[in-house]
Amino acid sequence: MRHTTLRQLEVFNAIVRHGSFTRAAEELFLTQPTVSMQIKKLTDAVGLPLFEQIGKKPYLTDAGRSLYKFSCEIFDHFARFEMTIADMKGLKQGKLRLAVVTTAKYFIPLMLGRFCQRYPGVDVSLKVSNRERVLQRMLENEDDLYIFGQPPDGVPTIAEPFLENPLVVIAPIDHPLAGLKVIPLERLVEQPVLAREAGSGTRMAAERLLAEHGLKMKVRMELGSNEALKQAVIGGLGIAVLSRHTLPLEFPGGRLTWLDVQGFPIKRHWYVVYPEGKRLSVVAQAFREYLLQHSADEPAGKVEAIA
Ligand code: PGA
Repeated sequence: MRHTTLRQLEVFNAIVRHGSFTRAAEELFLTQPTVSMQIKKLTDAVGLPLFEQIGKKPYLTDAGRSLYKFSCEIFDHFARFEMTIADMKGLKQGKLRLAVVTTAKYFIPLMLGRFCQRYPGVDVSLKVSNRERVLQRMLENEDDLYIFGQPPDGVPTIAEPFLENPLVVIAPIDHPLAGLKVIPLERLVEQPVLAREAGSGTRMAAERLLAEHGLKMKVRMELGSNEALKQAVIGGLGIAVLSRHTLPLEFPGGRLTWLDVQGFPIKRHWYVVYPEGKRLSVVAQAFREYLLQHSADEPAGKVEAIA
């Protein structure tokens, strides 16, 4: 393996990421025979096949999987080293890999925009998924930092709150409960509810509050997006629990309002999270500090006052 080159590992890594030799060749501006040649040399050096071809798609063998993990670690060290050097030169440069839960997409892109204006050398990759999938990404160490609406349980992490995340009950403006004060939870659960998909943090928090009172919601329909939920509420299909961040600052307005239900708004926070023991890159560290110091000045920092 001593004669293995970084270039060979780079080619191998690109094939795994794209699941295709052709797309890897395109990404690296190489011809397909060059890609195949690099992989042949790498396979000879390892002494075991790295891929098995099923149909047109290359699948990793056990040796390939181990090599992929190893090559990711090498590139990670390399990127960290480059960032440290850039930092010594007085620049913040490099890649920031961020994975956030669905609802965080209402404010994280804006904050990333401001962060990147401050540090133009930073290149960002942002993955948006529900809580369960972001958790999976963290367990596989795929990103630098994670944003959750509640720190993961059972996994040792560093989780720091940086912003309020109140959850409210929304309804169409002509809903029979609209305008009533302190509606008991028992009345809420009589209503048909539109809920986010299982695995959503918002849904988990609402179910947890009800379970504390021995109650369960009547889920009429599950929808995998906050925007679809709002439209279905406007359409009169039911009420829904949503983060205040999914609603405009000047809410209530238009065809939606919120209900004054006992226990709501559920008071939660947004957390910036990373696994305990993970060494943050210079850029990840800078973004973490940016969130902790500046989020209160952002429009998203104003939601608590008006929830
Ligand atoms: P979700 O998570 O987008 O998966 O519902 C948000 C949260 O946990 O607040």
